[in-house]
Amino acid sequence: MARGTALQMHVLGAAAGGGSPQWNCRCEVCRLAWAGDPRVTPRTQSSIAVSIDGEQWALINCAPDILKQLQQTPALHPREGHRHTPIASVLLTNADVDHVGGLLNLRESSPFRLLATPMIQDVLQQNPIFEVLNPAYVTRESIALETAFTLLEGLEARLFAVPGKTALYLEGENVELGIEGESTVGVEFIHGSQRAYYIPGCAAVTPGLAERLDGADLLLFDGTLWRDDEMIEAGVGVKTGARMGHMSMSGDDGSLAALADIDVARRVFVHINNTNPVLIAGSSQRGEVERSGWEIAFDGMELMCRT
Ligand code: MLT
Ligand code: MN
Ligand code: ZN
Repeated sequence: MARGTALQMHVLGAAAGGGSPQWNCRCEVCRLAWAGDPRVTPRTQSSIAVSIDGEQWALINCAPDILKQLQQTPALHPREGHRHTPIASVLLTNADVDHVGGLLNLRESSPFRLLATPMIQDVLQQNPIFEVLNPAYVTRESIALETAFTLLEGLEARLFAVPGKTALYLEGENVELGIEGESTVGVEFIHGSQRAYYIPGCAAVTPGLAERLDGADLLLFDGTLWRDDEMIEAGVGVKTGARMGHMSMSGDDGSLAALADIDVARRVFVHINNTNPVLIAGSSQRGEVERSGWEIAFDGMELMCRT
């Protein structure tokens, strides 16, 4: 580990697919946000940036909002010459639109590594619009599960399967829920003795996942819904969280309960859907989450793991 380096993260977008408020939504949270109510802060779609030196950065997922996110994050601005970016790598945790849509914005001939499991790379390969990423500049690397790889110079990472499902636009007639494979992964960041995790989509905390997370310094975890039937209740959708491949925060099988006894120094919910009442400051659900030791991510949140 290089001297003077520290694992650092910027939450670029803390919301789930659609963002908050979402373009066509008038659920309770979105109505407050459209009205400019100070209890609700707008959030863009799911992405973080990671670095150990503040010079070179990796994007983990690339949301359709990437341009706005970069504009709002000075560390990611071009710094030298006529063309430059501090973004050296882009790593994907699934092929959902909120995680790959922004790749189309990164097409103007700057070199970076595009990293994902073989299955996610296949999805990109099969979609010719991603050919705008000129292979002379963008190198696509397939990353095997459970194998440490160099994400940035001096920063190792590892991908691991979590229960999930295929991307919405690839669902067939009979979608398989809760599958553990290359379609939905979490990321482990390893820097010296520090371990941090980013898991923006997860259908269940398996015993194996709980064991993996035990002793972590930092956990960023799927905070899509408060309640499994929340979108139906809000009158904005017909799907449960389980059907979308996301476990909810509350309830006996929710993430608050599933992770309560696991030793994690700092825990933060990300990928928060616009229907989730935890997005309203002062809500009872926000209080419950915070009393359980969790933080609610916001765009521009900076997280630091010191060694
Ligand atoms: C999800 O996280 O469930 C997806 O991003 C949904 C979507 O594609 O909009
Ligand atoms: Mn999503
Ligand atoms: Zn909404």
